Formats: sequence, C-alpha cells, structure tokens
Amino acid sequence: MNIQTPRPKLSTMPRDGSTSLVPGEARCPGASVQELIARDVVPAPDVLRHEHCDFLGDEDISVDRYVTQEFFDREMEHVWKKTWQWACREEHIPEAGDYYVYEVGPFSVIVMRQHDMSVKAFLNACLHRGTKLRACEGEGSTRDLRCPYHGWTWKIDGALSSVPCAWDFPHVEPEKFALPNVATAQWGGFIFINLDENPQPFDDYAKVLIDHFKGWDLSQRYVSLHMAKELNCNWKTAMEAFMESYHVYETHPQLMTATGDANVQYDCYDAHVSRFYSAGGTQSPHLDNPMTEQELINTMLVGDRSMVSDELTVKEGETARCVMARYLRKVFGAQYQADLSGYSDSEIVDTIEYHLFPNMILFPGFSLPMVYRFRPIGLRADRTKFEILFLRPVPSTGERPEPAELFTVKEEESYTIVPGMDKGLGSVYDQDTMNLRAQQEGFLNQYKAGRKAGQTLGNYQEVRLRHFNQTLDAYLAR
Ligand code: FES
Ligand SMILES: [Fe+2]
Repeated sequence: MNIQTPRPKLSTMPRDGSTSLVPGEARCPGASVQELIARDVVPAPDVLRHEHCDFLGDEDISVDRYVTQEFFDREMEHVWKKTWQWACREEHIPEAGDYYVYEVGPFSVIVMRQHDMSVKAFLNACLHRGTKLRACEGEGSTRDLRCPYHGWTWKIDGALSSVPCAWDFPHVEPEKFALPNVATAQWGGFIFINLDENPQPFDDYAKVLIDHFKGWDLSQRYVSLHMAKELNCNWKTAMEAFMESYHVYETHPQLMTATGDANVQYDCYDAHVSRFYSAGGTQSPHLDNPMTEQELINTMLVGDRSMVSDELTVKEGETARCVMARYLRKVFGAQYQADLSGYSDSEIVDTIEYHLFPNMILFPGFSLPMVYRFRPIGLRADRTKFEILFLRPVPSTGERPEPAELFTVKEEESYTIVPGMDKGLGSVYDQDTMNLRAQQEGFLNQYKAGRKAGQTLGNYQEVRLRHFNQTLDAYLAR
C-alpha cells in the first residue's frame, strides 16, 4: 500500500471537455470505468458493462435525520421493522439447534436451524414475563430455548414444551404460546430476517441484487475475517462514508496513485439497490503527471514487497490492470485453492460495491471481498455498530473452513491490530472512521444552531446517498 501523499489538483471540467452543465450530466474529465474496462484482456461480464444513473435532484439533505430522537424513532417503526436485514451467514448455524441472535436497535431475534435444516426465527423474549431467552448477540447451540428466569421452555421450532408449575397456568394454552415467528429468507449464504408480519417477498425486495449476482455465488464463500467497532455517530453517517469515493481526495490521498476516484461509476437501480464501481490499476484523474503502466504496477506494490515478481513486468501493449489481474488470478487461486480462471480482469482488480437497503454493503470482487453492516445500538441515534466481514472462496476441495471469530475493535483502537487484516487497508478504515465523530458533532452543531442544517451533495459522486435517503423517506411516508 502506497503511503505517499500526493498533492492533487482539483478537476472541475465535465468529462468530454464540453461546457454542458445540465444537472447530473457532468462527469470527471478522466477516463470512465466503461472506457477502462473496454480495454481489458479478459472482458468484464455483461452485468458490469452498463451504466444506470439518473439525476435525482440537488436539494439539501436535512441533518435532523442524523441527530434527532424523533427521526430515529420513526426509522425504528418504519424501516427496521419493515425491511430485510441479513442476520448471519448460513455457516454460523450449520447444525440443528444452532442459533444466532441478531440485534438492531431494541429488537432481538433468534435465528434457529431446524431438524430438517430449514431456518426459523423468533422474537427473543419470553412469553411469560418478557425476559430475553438469550442475553446478547452472537452464536450458540442448544436443544431447547429455556428462559433463565422461571424456566419456561420452547422447542427449537418455537413450540412451548414446558411450564414449571403448570397447575398455576390453566389459562396458558400451549398452542397459543408458540414463540412469535419472524420472517426469514436465504440468499447467497446469508440468512435475512424481516420483522414485518407480512413482508414483501425477499425475491422482489432484492430482485436487482439477485439478478446481478447470478455470476457471483456468495454461498460458495466463507467468513475469513469478521470485525466490529462501535462508532459515535448515526448509522447513516457511518454507512454513507462508504457509498462515495469523493472523499478519497482528502481522506485517503495515498490511494490516488493506483485507483480512479473522481471517475468512479455510480449506478442507482430500484429503490433498494445501488452500486459503486471503481477501477483499479489506474491513477486518479486528480493527479497531474501521467504514469506509465509499469509505474502504476510499481505503485500498487508499494508496501507489499512479497508480490514483487517478474510476472509483473508490463510488456508492450499491456495495461497495468490486466497484468495485475493475470498475476492476482494466479496468486489468489493458489492462496484460496480456488479456480478463478472464469473471472474477468475487472472482477479481480476493481472495487465493485453494492448496497441493499437499508444497511448491507457487499463486494463481489476478489481483491476486496467484504461485506459491511451498519446498525443502531439500542435506542441511541448517535451510536452505531459497524461490522466488516471478508468472504473468501471456499477451497475447491469443498471443505468449508469454520467462520472466523468476531474480533471487536475498541473505539480508540486501530483496525490494523485485527489479526489477519492488511495494514494498509486497516489504515484506510481508520481514516474513514476518524471523520465520523467530527461529522456527527458537526451535524448536531448545525441542527442546534439552526444554521445551514443540510448536506449539499454532489450531483453524481454522491448520488447514492441521495438515492438511499429518498428510499428512506419513502419508507417513512408509508
Ligand atoms: S420470564 Fe421467562 S419464565 Fe418467567
Ligand atoms: Fe473511505
């Protein structure tokens, strides 16, 4: 990872040099992602070879949504109770009786593997006097769900099986005291829950995502790294930091020599799905001096000398992207014992990021195969749990490694301390999360002072934030 800090020059002209300033049409003057991938040796799949972005408006996004309890409470009612959220991976609960407790805001749900290998989910609260059947989030295994207070017990399918001193409860009919069911769905190795009693079918809800991921089977990945950090900000403040590349120029200048930033492609599909597509092996359009393809490769290697190899010499007519993709396809293939020959240059070297409303971000590529989740903690509008998982391919032997244990990073700690975490990438997360408390406090300052209490977004580079907030507003208006 390069740690130099280039001094960038800000670009202001639309991509083709035209003076067109039609709102939403202007683009960075650098090469577009589509132009860059068109030159690749192993071509990108169709799903990556289109753009889908409309102008969505340019009004400010008011900051009350990040700071007020009133807005937070409306989200609890209209968003967290009504949307599909991934609770755990299939491999967290492989056997009958394995469970995972998922929590969001005040809600707590037990996701339970059944004897027939199907999955059920229940509200995590005793039907006697409310006690949580399992005290906190995480995985476990059990033969039944027994309340720690007076011992009422349910089978793993949610049926009431025993009540101590049943003679005192003639009014308790077991068939009316099954644990309340929570809807579940399974896709890509993830188990989703929805607290709505009549939810939109998951396949409709996530239709665009399911279509796009037909060639990326995330069920054939396993959790190789899992970390969580609690942040002093609203869940949207945190998540939105990972939905645009506009901040790279100021926050991560060390990345600018090896990735496009101002020329990232942003796509907004239906209400629930948007995409970010950033080309690797290219320099930021902000940088003045063009680098040779060999210089680009060398820049990508700074900090990771283990990768220096003759195979990374760029020959006449080759691009840094394709040379790096060819090399990484081999290296990753050996490292993960997986056959990556069917994957394009773009899937190997680019950063491709999808958002599924409300809080899931996932990356189908191989260099950065992450999944993010952002959740409010309890009833605090200014506390967020941010998790990062890495999903590596299951080895071709078919033997699925155990999912990585959760590693909790304390607020003041660096992501670089996480065992197995790339130091350069850990520093990038540190840079990202360091902005968030200051942004949250700035929002509160503006809101309380009543001065310019709105975010002014870029028409293109921050369009996914607007798209997300428009969907949020639509849920709140229901
Ligand atoms: S509260 Fe659960 S058994 Fe009494
Ligand atoms: Fe960032």
